Amino acid sequence: MVSYKKLGLVNTKKMFAKAVKRGYAIPAFNFNTMEQMQAIVQAAVETKSPVIMQVSKGARKYANPTILRYMAEGAVQYAKELGCKKPQIVLHLDHGDSYETCKSCIDSGFSSVMIDGSSLPFKENIKLTKKVVAYAHKHDVTVEAELGVLAGVEDEVAAEESHYTKPEEVVEFATKTGCDSLAISIGTSHGAYKFKPEQCTRDPKTGKLVPPPLAFDVLKAVEKQLPGFPIVLHGSSSVPQEHVDTINKFGGKLPDAVGIPEEQLRKAAKSAVCKINIDSDSRLAMTAAIRKHFAEHPEHFDPRQYLTPARDAMKELYVHKIVKVLGSNDKL
Ligand code: G3H
Ligand code: 13P
Ligand code: ZN
Repeated sequence: MVSYKKLGLVNTKKMFAKAVKRGYAIPAFNFNTMEQMQAIVQAAVETKSPVIMQVSKGARKYANPTILRYMAEGAVQYAKELGCKKPQIVLHLDHGDSYETCKSCIDSGFSSVMIDGSSLPFKENIKLTKKVVAYAHKHDVTVEAELGVLAGVEDEVAAEESHYTKPEEVVEFATKTGCDSLAISIGTSHGAYKFKPEQCTRDPKTGKLVPPPLAFDVLKAVEKQLPGFPIVLHGSSSVPQEHVDTINKFGGKLPDAVGIPEEQLRKAAKSAVCKINIDSDSRLAMTAAIRKHFAEHPEHFDPRQYLTPARDAMKELYVHKIVKVLGSNDKL
């Protein structure tokens, strides 16, 4: 058993309470590689922001769970080396799919886990979440749960259609499970193709897709039922057009990729939404930088040559999200 406290990590409890009270959101960035980890830490230190580094099932498979855990420990030390005296870094399991996965993460140094029972019937979701909470709380680890279904691919589980969270269910769910935060479905979705063209309108000037607005009425109703309770938004990448354009210009093929407009996330961050998940935007920034680099330097083959601009592009993206969208800067 490795306690996250020994690794210098923190859980989400105080972080979320402060974020809800002061009207900003904590960034939850997914990572699979060393470059993503470095860029996340550089951005968090530069902006004096707390940060959640999250690991999906796919990331555990790709990078190896032990390596990721040591990378998170390394992240804390790296933040200190960069001049941050007291980094606030959470190591979080994203979309945990079973009690066993959550337990294994808790036992190996995670400070927060998500148990995603959103595809289960309501009562089974409660039962599973409650079991994870009981184990996690023994170790002072915080638990995120989910009610409602996001469209798109959620960690290998594909849902064709989204089902908004039912506000009338949230009190029973939060009370019976004891979860620390709740991910809800209000129209966000995973990946770089969040909406089908027929769900959008088209800007007559640019020809670009304009996505439908998030269901802020559902968010408001949830907040009314659970005042001050930490709410989480998954699937919150904005799919920056500049990165999509660069990718397409240099040989990529991402037609009609569309995300959540940053303006809507800014609005959400001011509410009880205190954790916003971003993964796809970092993938796009990295891919755009690498494609551009290869197009301009066909003679390069040292990974450090193309991963340096990729890391810089991700850092720039993370800083932008923290300062211009979530408002978590200067909160350490
Ligand atoms: O919610 C999904 C995250 O973006 C993680 O994606 O399962 O491909 O690592 P992944
Ligand atoms: P995006 O695909 O919108 O980046 O969402 C990531 C996410 O929700 C991770 O859990
Ligand atoms: Zn997610």
